[in-house]
Amino acid sequence: MTEIQKIEGSNLLKLYQGKQVLSCSLTLERDNITSIIGHNACGKSTLLRILSLLEKPDQGKVKIHGPRKIGRNPFSNFSLRKKITLVPAKAALLKDTVFNNIAYALQLRGYKKDRIPQQVEELLSTFDLEDKVQSSANKLSTGEAQRVALAKALALQPEALLLDEPTASQDPNHTRLVEGILLRWKQQTGRMLVIVTHDSSQAHNFSDRIIFMHEGRILENRSTEDFFNCPSTEQAKAFIHDRIH
Ligand SMILES: Nc1ncnc2c1ncn2[C@@H]1O[C@H](COP(=O)(O)OP(=O)(O)OP(=O)(O)O)[C@@H](O)[C@H]1O
Ligand SMILES: [Mg+2]
Repeated sequence: MTEIQKIEGSNLLKLYQGKQVLSCSLTLERDNITSIIGHNACGKSTLLRILSLLEKPDQGKVKIHGPRKIGRNPFSNFSLRKKITLVPAKAALLKDTVFNNIAYALQLRGYKKDRIPQQVEELLSTFDLEDKVQSSANKLSTGEAQRVALAKALALQPEALLLDEPTASQDPNHTRLVEGILLRWKQQTGRMLVIVTHDSSQAHNFSDRIIFMHEGRILENRSTEDFFNCPSTEQAKAFIHDRIH
């Protein structure tokens, strides 16, 4: 049974070298597809790492909510951390074949050995990577490596999937392919899906919730329709205006 219903960050504060880069509170809901948007360096990736339990905030708390009680101190709860997958903007793959990268993820999730090869091939062909199965992961193009990282994330069967600019290195056809795969995953699993994107039309078409960040703060957190039709802050108005005109 799916457990993670919400990821809640309260009074999160993060400083790097004494400079505050994040100060915000928010709740991510399982039922939404959420896009986090905002200019370079406004704190999107930092926020995503903290909500994925990969990096601790300097102050504030992350709480994971599920139907059953989920213990305190999620950062030291490794079985909980395994349920949340973050795919960073720069794909981090094992220095091994593409096949082994995916097979390893399936193995971690308890797939039977004899089922793994077929499963790997199916997943890779969904991502238009069927001719790269035996390639070295470190010899792939940037776009191919990003698609392998996404395939690997799906192989991990996370309860919450957080993707940092998942189509930033994809051409238009592969962007549509990846969006379609993610939407199908969302429909089939009903699990939490969050993306960071610089593509406003993607945020508009793909997600039903928008979190707009500016200088480490969340200025807007509302439905996609409301955000694009009637942004309430000057910064969001300017952000939308710059991208449409
Ligand atoms: N590990 C780190 N050490 C020092 N500073 C960092 C570190 N990670 C991020 N920063 C700084 O924190 C700020 C926010 O960075 P972050 O990567 O979260 O921004 P972002 O919104 O994801 O930007 P982009 O759209 O360019 O990816 C930036 O000024 C960045 O230089
Ligand atoms: Mg970033």
